[in-house]
Amino acid sequence: MRTYAEYQQLVEGALSAQLASLGEIPALLFEAMDYSLSAGGKRLRPVLLLAACDTLGGDVNEALPFACALEMIHTYSLIHDDLPAMDNDDLRRGRPTNHKVYGEGMAILAGDGLLSAAAELVLRAAVCMGDLRGTKAAEAILRRAGVTGMVAGQVMDVTGEGTEPTAEKVAYIHLHKTADLLTAPIEAGLILAGATDEQVSAGCEYGKRLGLAFQMVDDLLDVEGETAVLGKTTGKDAAVGKLTWVAVHGIEKTRQDAREQVRLAVEALKSLPGETNFLKTLAQSTLNRVQ
Ligand code: IPE
Ligand code: IPE
Ligand code: MG
Ligand code: MG
Ligand code: MG
Repeated sequence: MRTYAEYQQLVEGALSAQLASLGEIPALLFEAMDYSLSAGGKRLRPVLLLAACDTLGGDVNEALPFACALEMIHTYSLIHDDLPAMDNDDLRRGRPTNHKVYGEGMAILAGDGLLSAAAELVLRAAVCMGDLRGTKAAEAILRRAGVTGMVAGQVMDVTGEGTEPTAEKVAYIHLHKTADLLTAPIEAGLILAGATDEQVSAGCEYGKRLGLAFQMVDDLLDVEGETAVLGKTTGKDAAVGKLTWVAVHGIEKTRQDAREQVRLAVEALKSLPGETNFLKTLAQSTLNRVQ
């Protein structure tokens, strides 16, 4: 196993190489895609994918294209999430949002570009693998990013704005817009490492609980965080009537619920063999994150 920073470094190195490997991308499109992709961010999803694979003794280098593709999908989701028609945000990863720099049309296309590049990269990697692990990992990533996963969650988030906040609606939003994209790396990483179906479901339970806690903390940070540290504007959720965990349950209960989800995430790890300490510590650190 490596440290978080070491996995992050692997991802940083591979991201630009993966993008370059696609061939000749129109200059402005490449610039707009690269602007958001190279702006940093925690790289949590690709790090999770590499760590999940490593936990079961899989080949981290073989997993790298899948990890990069997931970060591309996540970045596309952020570019579109920030558009005026969605959350209308000006600041992301400490920089002006993509549409502020390149205009809405190019921001939409940069998102489209990152999503289709991701699909291309995972399928190309899968074709080279000679067994079904790559195809199954690609399916898991695209399914969890898609119309029953992240996109479904974003639909409820956008259409729910300003409506009565209910526990059901916010649970659906958190489960899909965020937890699905944090479960994808665990599912794909374990599949690539050759995990059994039982091990994959234990990993998915971990990813789901981690994802729920992660979005609860995101909702808390919108209320209590600092824009300069967070790299995005705070106080926006309440101002536009977003359906957040805090709006439904209040700050104290949100904190408690996040702690409980992390406890359940750690519990799920008990059904996984291998060195699960990294995943345990990562889940626990979610509760104290400031970014
Ligand atoms: C932001 O994700 C969107 C949410 C699901 C809350 P991250 O907090 O992982 O953002 P980056 O990648 O570090 O910028
Ligand atoms: C975004 O949720 C989730 C996705 C982009 C899929 P938020 O709208 O709460 O994320 P931030 O706060 O803008 O990062
Ligand atoms: Mg949003
Ligand atoms: Mg947003
Ligand atoms: Mg948020």
